[in-house]
Amino acid sequence: MSDRVFIVTGGCGFIGSNLVAQLLKQFEGSHVVVIDDLRTGSYANLVEACDRTNVGAFTGQLLPESVCDIDWHTLIDTHKPTAVFHLGAITDTTNANEADMLRVNAESFPPMILACAHRAPLVYASSAATYGTPPQTGQRVAFSLEAAGKPNNVYGFSKWLMECHHRRLATQLARDGRSPHIVGLRYFNVFGPGEARKGKMASMAYQLTQQCLAGKRPRLFVDGSQSRDQVYVGDVVDCTIAAAGLQQPAGRAITPGVYNLGSGVATPFSAVADAVREGLTLKSGDREVEYFEMPVNIRAFYQDFTLADMSMTAKGLGWKPSIAPLQAVREYAAWLVPPGGYSNCRN
Ligand SMILES: NC(=O)c1ccc[n+]([C@@H]2O[C@H](COP(=O)([O-])OP(=O)(O)OC[C@H]3O[C@@H](n4cnc5c(N)ncnc54)[C@H](O)[C@@H]3O)[C@@H](O)[C@H]2O)c1
Repeated sequence: MSDRVFIVTGGCGFIGSNLVAQLLKQFEGSHVVVIDDLRTGSYANLVEACDRTNVGAFTGQLLPESVCDIDWHTLIDTHKPTAVFHLGAITDTTNANEADMLRVNAESFPPMILACAHRAPLVYASSAATYGTPPQTGQRVAFSLEAAGKPNNVYGFSKWLMECHHRRLATQLARDGRSPHIVGLRYFNVFGPGEARKGKMASMAYQLTQQCLAGKRPRLFVDGSQSRDQVYVGDVVDCTIAAAGLQQPAGRAITPGVYNLGSGVATPFSAVADAVREGLTLKSGDREVEYFEMPVNIRAFYQDFTLADMSMTAKGLGWKPSIAPLQAVREYAAWLVPPGGYSNCRN
């Protein structure tokens, strides 16, 4: 049994609920305090994640509040957490309310950093959206860390500003001779169980599987060669926990900083669709991919290619991806088949 306490913001969301369940599994008996204003999350994600992970019922706390309204010093004093994981954010990348996005995602962050400094490791979710369309896109090579900073939307900009707060305050705090344990992780395209409530923001693997399960042909932009670094949620959770320094063998230190968190593989959407069809055991000719032209209005900002350079993640965190994305897509698609199968909607 463990007397550890973890604080997880966004713990009712897709990745956050998977993280909560995994913490409860790895640190049996620990107490998890979730802070989530339920903007896009739901209590049901927590219940389902705990069920999937076989950790029994969730018995922690759920504070239904915005991260903007938390008195972080009091919260950290009260709970003395082993680690704080900050995933709570506005995640709809099409949200055009710039003030809202910046207030919630970026400006809520400095008080949290200052309260956690030297008292608890802090791991937070940044995003591949901080890269926008770097030169690496055209060259179709991996995005190294320094290529970020010119995002294409206010969501990516809000995540970039989180990193700027992190760098600035960590430098100030280090002047007393101790670097705070703060790690930012640029998640790439995450997929896996628990994303059903994300609607149009759910992964391509999820959307394509749902189209097939509804008896339709999976739809992709011509010619399906658009490639993203698709990373399985199990790996994302594993790296997020590792970044807090909780799993390291004695003497193996984490180097605080900002890191990429992807699979290290750029997977074309056509390959995702093939893997989905394989996972659903669809025969040749049944629900083949239907290609359509990309609308002109989205062409200008479309991220045609993303790929995480994972070399620094291996060096600084001692962590490497463990699951090949297409293998995970196949298994995920099979897992998404409802009980009783879906034979009625086959062509
Ligand atoms: N899913 C991805 O592919 C991906 C990629 C890059 C980065 N991320 C980041 O990972 C984190 C988790 O994303 P997700 O995919 O699980 O999305 P999600 O929308 O399922 O989860 C976000 C959670 O944050 C909560 N939230 C929103 N505003 C809040 C606020 N003001 N206070 C407290 N909670 C708030 C939501 O209710 C939700 O439960 C986010 O920070 C997101 O930006 C995700």
